[in-house]
Order: sequence, then C-alpha cells, then structure tokens
Amino acid sequence: MSDESPLIRSLRAAVAAAPDDVPLRLHLAELLLAAGHSDQAVTEAAVALQHAPGDADARALMMRAMGVPTAPADLQPQPPSEPGGFDWTAAEREIEDAVPPRFVTSERAMDSPAPATEAPVAADGGGDAGSVSAWDIDAPGSVSLADVGGMREVKDRLEAAFLAPMRNPELRRLFGKSLRGGLLLYGPPGCGKTFIARAVAGELGAGFLSVSVNDVLDMWIGNSERNMHEVFETARRQAPCVVFLDELDALGAKRSRTHHSGMRNTVNQLLTELDGVDAVNEGVFVLAATNVPWDVDIALRRPGRLDRTLLVLPPDAPAREAILRYHLRDRPIESVDLGRLVKVTEDFSGADLAHLCDSAAESALLDSARTGTVRMINMTDLLAAAKDVRPSTEPWFAAARNVAMFANDGGMYDDLLAYLKKKRKL
Ligand SMILES: Nc1ncnc2c1ncn2[C@@H]1O[C@H](COP(=O)(O)OP(=O)(O)OP(=O)(O)O)[C@@H](O)[C@H]1O
Ligand SMILES: [Mg+2]
Repeated sequence: MSDESPLIRSLRAAVAAAPDDVPLRLHLAELLLAAGHSDQAVTEAAVALQHAPGDADARALMMRAMGVPTAPADLQPQPPSEPGGFDWTAAEREIEDAVPPRFVTSERAMDSPAPATEAPVAADGGGDAGSVSAWDIDAPGSVSLADVGGMREVKDRLEAAFLAPMRNPELRRLFGKSLRGGLLLYGPPGCGKTFIARAVAGELGAGFLSVSVNDVLDMWIGNSERNMHEVFETARRQAPCVVFLDELDALGAKRSRTHHSGMRNTVNQLLTELDGVDAVNEGVFVLAATNVPWDVDIALRRPGRLDRTLLVLPPDAPAREAILRYHLRDRPIESVDLGRLVKVTEDFSGADLAHLCDSAAESALLDSARTGTVRMINMTDLLAAAKDVRPSTEPWFAAARNVAMFANDGGMYDDLLAYLKKKRKL
C-alpha cells in the first residue's frame, strides 16, 4: 500500500508485533475504515473477533465496516454515511484479475431492455416532518422520477394525470378549475409511495413538505385544525411546494376513531384548505398516501379535492434491480447475479428488498466472525435470505382483494382489479 498514511503503517507494524492486542488492532481497523479501506477494516475486525469473540467494540466495528445498519429495526436505506466512503468501482478496477467481480450476469435477458443504471437516491420513509415547532420543507431537487427504478406505468400515469398539467401554467389557466385537486397514492406498504411523492416534487422543482396526518392529529391535542391550516400556510409561503399528506387514512372517521371528537373538524379544515380559491393555492400541489384507501373519508375524494388515485404496486423487475443495486452499493459483495435475484423476489416490496440485503450481510458477517476467515457477501447468502423473507405485501393483497371485488365504488379500484386478474390472485 503505497498511499498508506505513516500512522497506519506504524500501527500495522505494532499489530504484527502484538497480534493478541485487540484494542490496538481495533484502532488500526478504525483508521482503515476512516481511510475508506472498509475491506481491510473487515479483515482486522474479524481477526480481533477471533481473539475476543464476544468483544462488543469489535463486533460493532465489523458491522459498520460491512455496512450492516446497527439498529436492527431500521429497514430504510441509510443515507450515504461517510462521504467518499469506499470506492468499489475504483478498487475493482485495481484488482480486477485477482478478485471475482461484484456483479455477474447469467442471462442477459431481463424483461426490461434498459435496466435502471445506478443507485436510486434514498428517500426516507415519510412521517418524519412533524417536528414539534414547525413544518420543515425540503429544498427542491434531490430526487426525480429518473431515480425511481422501473415502474413505467406509474410514471406514465403520473405524467398524464398530474405532472403535465402542473408543469404547464398555460394549460392550467386554460382548463381552469378542472385541474385543481390532488393525487392520492395507494398500495401495499413499503412499495414506494413516499419515494414517488418526493420524486414528483423534484420533477416540479418544488419544495417538499411531508406531513404525517397522525402528527397533525397528535401534536397538540385539540389543535389539529390549526395544525392543518399551518401546514398549508407554510406551503403557500414557500410555493412552489408539494404538500404530502402521509397516512391520510388516519383522518378516516369510518373505523376506530369514529368517536374522536375533533376528527370531523380536522377533515373539514382539510377540505377548506383543498378548496382554497385558486389564487391562494397557486403553486401548492397536494399529494396524499395511504395503505388503506377504503378508510379514507369519501368527502376528501370528491372532484377538485384528492380526486385522482394512483395505485403503487410492488416494484417490477427493473425497479427491483435498482433497489437491490442501491442497497448493495457500499457492501463487500462478490459475483452477485442481480438478474437471478430479481427473478426470485417477485412481490417483494422495497422494504423487503432492503431487509433481504441486511440479512445476507449479516449472515456473511457472522460466518466471517465464526470461521475467522473473512468472506464477501455472495449469492448463497442472498438467495438464502430471499427464501427467508416473506413478501410483506401478501396480507395487503388479501385485504384489498375483497374491497376491490365488493366495494369498487365508481371504479376506484379498477387498476387493482386488473392487476389481481393479471396475477391470477382473483
Ligand atoms: N421504484 C423504486 N426505485 C427505487 N427505490 C424504490 C422504488 N420503490 C421503492 N423504493 C425504495 O423502497 C423503500 C420503501 O419505499 P417507501 O418508503 O416510499 O414506501 P411507502 O409505499 O411509502 O411505504 P409505507 O406504506 O410503509 O409508507 C424506499 O427506501 C425507497 O427508496
Ligand atoms: Mg411511506
């Protein structure tokens, strides 16, 4: 290693002289990790674990070096943590002929001619915008529809039903009121509703104000109407802005919350905001999302309000490839055949795919720690994980099926019925 810092070099020497000194070795591993040599950090951490199998520091460092999130419940993609983290592409080029490649392809034929290229940008799950004092707007521009892998149908419908008219003020003026109103995204959990809403904001060059309706309701009990008004006022002040109402069903007065006294008023307030005279809402775009559209208050779906719906289904093959590629981007992998993984992950949600990658990383990690020989994450780990993870979308389809069949008011669930038929789930 010619570019190695003097400190790392002398620590290496010290470690070689005292191979049993675990803290010393971990210190070296830390420095290697910080310098972007996560593969070498993994090696040192593994050796340390061999000497001290229960050592919590060694374990934590190993996890970090292998890109395993430390909080097990966290299935969302991590924002790229250290800028300039390990550059796999450059490293691959350096050691091309000595080490197996990260990705391999068995059959070229995937059902898409142009699989999405590089990593989609991580979109955090929604619901994080309800900070106590104010509603925060994300600056425009970080995610666009190009970051959403695959999902051609969704993109086309978005373009036709929402983006084209919104992008074009002339069209808007021409058609006047008929273009008012927002779009309700619905579908099984973890399949990209929040991600797509963020991408829409990016496409419109608008800010993004994400509000979990539950936050609106809970922030100050009894103040929900004012909260709702505040949300829209904030958006109007900073137009163009997408207001994204996540968990819209929380307002649904149909079921458990029927007796919540403030609910009706909050719904009415939202209606007032949505109906706001054109000029007032100029540049404010309303998107909403729910996993249970059948719980959404009917009044909210009347014309001029959230009158268009968009079904967001589990990611198709190109989308799955993009999501897998994204979650494997910083991990030590070898000979991963994405085409094959895509085939065995039909019906998996984006969140399921993230979970799959975490499990595979974990099994490679535990294996390395157990045997003392570091190995990369390989297809065996990934396929085993794919077997273990049950698509979390199944229960949703079971519930949705009944609604689509027996309560398809006004054809709202036509898309869903068509999909169920195509998948022979009906
Ligand atoms: N087509 C896609 N391309 C790239 N990434 C995607 C795609 N679809 C989903 N993802 C990723 O999958 C994860 C889950 O998506 P998201 O949080 O948007 O789902 P959701 O439908 O809002 O879920 P929930 O119902 O739980 O709120 C996100 O991290 C997102 O980055
Ligand atoms: Mg969401």
